[in-house]
Amino acid sequence: MKVLVTGGAGYIGSHTCRHLAESGHEVIVYDNLGTGHASFARWGEFAEGDINDNARLRSCMRKFRPDAVIHFAAWSQVGESMRSPGKYYHNNIGGTLSLLEAMREEGITTIVVSGSAAVYGHVDVTPIPETVPGIPINPYGTTKLVMEKILADFARAYGLNWIALRYFNAAGCSPDGVIGELHNPETHLIPRIFMSALSLAPAMEIYGTDYPTPDGTCIRDYIHVDDLASAHMLAATSLLDGGESGPMNLGTGQGSSVLEVLEGAREVSGLPIPAIERQRRPGDPSILVADATKARECLGWKPRYRLRDMLQHSWEFMQKHQDFYKHG
Ligand code: UFG
Repeated sequence: MKVLVTGGAGYIGSHTCRHLAESGHEVIVYDNLGTGHASFARWGEFAEGDINDNARLRSCMRKFRPDAVIHFAAWSQVGESMRSPGKYYHNNIGGTLSLLEAMREEGITTIVVSGSAAVYGHVDVTPIPETVPGIPINPYGTTKLVMEKILADFARAYGLNWIALRYFNAAGCSPDGVIGELHNPETHLIPRIFMSALSLAPAMEIYGTDYPTPDGTCIRDYIHVDDLASAHMLAATSLLDGGESGPMNLGTGQGSSVLEVLEGAREVSGLPIPAIERQRRPGDPSILVADATKARECLGWKPRYRLRDMLQHSWEFMQKHQDFYKHG
């Protein structure tokens, strides 16, 4: 198939483009390089552009005639979304609408989008199936839920076929260290831990040790970025084969606490990574673990990697890319 990937130069986008290209599909990377990296846009043809630029999108679609779109381009920092909600509503919702209108105008009817476990907010169910009605607790999560509502409306009105992949905690890097997680600023747990290990940041901070979990720290379901990449390809293929539309969780179904991740990182690096206990971070639910039965059944998807692999791959990648954290 031929796939246009928005945000294809970003973290999950670049891994997906690589997976598609290496599986024999044709890829067009559409990215404004706002947070993506030109050096990551190496699988498929690169078209620089913004998702809010309807004319540019349409001309790319006319030129390449993709069978499907995979849509990653969005802002994705929970904390920033609390401070600058307008930025999130404008780009994540406005940008998605601009993309969907361009697709409708150009007759493209299949889309896979980046969803998020942030749509669930605080729910008392473990593991969480897609049927649990979530109430997002931050603007980022709200934008991801509104995106799903828009997709469902476009499906009813125009026959759009769609899947929103609700990732739990994306982690890890390509095993060969060629592409990986390079965010500035970096807020995610695993890279923050390794930044402390490499003395690129002060002691790692543990946000809260009084949660109702066995060791008092938050539990998350970490999922390897290459497993997310394979799910996107399977989702697009499934829709083109007439498969079901809707949201789907992506996670391993295994939760790990902040302290367990820290301990794993100490083992993988062989370093006594310094850590200090801090107050809870506002907006963090205590436990988020995926029930990914639907993705397994509908897509035949199965994650290959475990937390240990995510830590190992991240550790190798970050040692090679220390300059990015020093100089941006
Ligand atoms: N944490 C720390 N110290 C840090 C960073 C994180 O203790 O320096 C803790 C957090 O409090 C949380 C866990 O580690 O309990 C994971 O935090 P991340 O920031 O890595 O990830 P989040 O769970 O906050 O967010 C991720 C994605 C979001 C998505 C969300 C779904 O980054 O995009 O999962 O819940 F919305």
